[in-house]
Amino acid sequence: MCGIVGIVGHQPVSERLVDALKRLEYRGYDSAGVATIHDGALDRRRAEGKLFNLEARLKEEPLAGTIGIAHTRWATHGAPTERNAHPHFTDGIAVVHNGIIENFAEVKDELSAAGAAFQTETDTEVVAQLLAKYRRDGMGRREAMHAMLRRVRGAYALAVLFEDDPSTIMAARNGPPLAIGHGNGEMFLGSDAIALAPFTNDITYLNDGDWAVVGKTGAHIFDIDGNVVTRPRHVSTAAAYMVDKGNHRHFMEKEIYEQPEVIAHALGHYVNFIQNRVTPLGDGIDFAKVPSLAISACGTAYLAGLIGKYWFERYARLPVEIDVASEFRYREIPLSPQSAALFISQSGETADTLASLRYCKEHGLKIGAVVNARESTIARESDAVFPILAGPEIGVASTKAFTCQLAVLAALAIGAGRARGTVSEEEEQALVHSLAEMPRIMGEVLNSIQPKIEHLSRELSKCRDVLYLGRGTSFPLAMEGALKLKEISYIHAEGYAAGELKHGPIALIDENMPVIVIAPHDRFFDKTVSNMQEVAARGGRIILITDARGAAVSTLDTMHTIVLPEVDEIIAPMIFSLPVQLLAYHTAVFMGTDVDQPRNLAKSVTVE
Ligand code: AGP
Repeated sequence: MCGIVGIVGHQPVSERLVDALKRLEYRGYDSAGVATIHDGALDRRRAEGKLFNLEARLKEEPLAGTIGIAHTRWATHGAPTERNAHPHFTDGIAVVHNGIIENFAEVKDELSAAGAAFQTETDTEVVAQLLAKYRRDGMGRREAMHAMLRRVRGAYALAVLFEDDPSTIMAARNGPPLAIGHGNGEMFLGSDAIALAPFTNDITYLNDGDWAVVGKTGAHIFDIDGNVVTRPRHVSTAAAYMVDKGNHRHFMEKEIYEQPEVIAHALGHYVNFIQNRVTPLGDGIDFAKVPSLAISACGTAYLAGLIGKYWFERYARLPVEIDVASEFRYREIPLSPQSAALFISQSGETADTLASLRYCKEHGLKIGAVVNARESTIARESDAVFPILAGPEIGVASTKAFTCQLAVLAALAIGAGRARGTVSEEEEQALVHSLAEMPRIMGEVLNSIQPKIEHLSRELSKCRDVLYLGRGTSFPLAMEGALKLKEISYIHAEGYAAGELKHGPIALIDENMPVIVIAPHDRFFDKTVSNMQEVAARGGRIILITDARGAAVSTLDTMHTIVLPEVDEIIAPMIFSLPVQLLAYHTAVFMGTDVDQPRNLAKSVTVE
């Protein structure tokens, strides 16, 4: 998704704006631009592609000025060209926008009929054109901003410069997040606190419907009706995570290898390693009393939720209704107001997940958020926040956030089981002991499987289609493996319940399509072996990911067998995630794709 930054202060802003944009690159983008006001003149530089193209433009033609806005664009309407890059200019007004103006066509027609000359194919330009019209009609800047916000519909984070006012930036938020940073004699705007981390950790988040006039000594914030409002100031923790790749080639590789450390950190927040007990879950959700649990999320977070469903149902005997957020929010599920709902989101800003949260809130459910970004909108709108403490995840493909989500969901399910009397103290201690073993086992696996994975990935990189199979909690993991592979290597991949093989997918089996089978030696192993025999009988090439016991009993002639340590069922999904992640990573490296910022993808999907 797009990134927005703004600075109003007393020193040159152009280079600092581009540096701040670099901290938003992880969100995904395909063009960028900067606008400043200097000596009463508004000016801009824009470029297609990555930020180094914009830096080259600025080197050729520097931009002076102590007030400016900047933007990385993830194209929604209009091709990713320089012409469509933000900031958009009209009559001395510059606008940068994250989101979608849903009624842009209607407004564009109306303005065009009145003589407006549109320069771009974008929805955003209607914001600049509306402001210009209202100013021509005699409105002041604030009046024009307020009128524009009441006219447009849709999702937006906006920053606006008026050439005739070089002392303030106007900002507005409805959906995609926007933060105000408080500095010393200067003020900042950013899509998130990470962008502002080098400038300040003193952050105010705008609420939906808010708009603000930001000057170098402070900000005036208004609600959609124009009433003055105040919003709390937070000390952001983002500054603590000055992220870099360390000695890794990509953020994704770094984040895969960080998992033993961050999992230990996350678990430490939920379990007592001495007593092998889950620490009290807080009073936000009383799992002892809820009749059922809803879970909703998107992408990898949804797949973590699917695994969590198995655990809540098995250990806490809690019926779980789960769906991807884009379906959940429209299904009109008959939800009991006594129930609770969990929303899983690394960014805490995913539009569909947030909409599902608000749907459940309207129906009276207690809301829990399993999030990485503790200052996010989803966290702020929840009754209970369960942080995953994974640290910033920069790679678009989610890895450490996924396994930390699983670790937290496992702790919550065990805690819920204790609260509901469906997990005994002895069972709790055994389960928590298994969780406590995870960091060590993950470290062992990461230190041992890389050579085999790299060799296997070289072969995978030549394939066009790959099928992943699993049973039980390995089924959602099979889907996660397929998602990882497709989103960073662009190879088509599908994850399927192994038991579904004969209901269709077996028609696909031939020597050209590898079948990756995720099968720890658990209660499903024998049935999964039968599936693998069906694949082998049809010339299919099998890559088996199993443990020592599974490898010992399997007589299959596989293309490859990756052997992991034998682990308790509760931690198998986290441990078996590692080869799945590394397979996707190394295959993408062989394919030469942009591993950290795969084409067309954004790290946080803040529009529907
Ligand atoms: C996962 O690798 C993808 N990047 C994507 O599916 C992601 O999990 C999804 O967009 C949800 O994001 P969130 O966790 O920030 O809500």
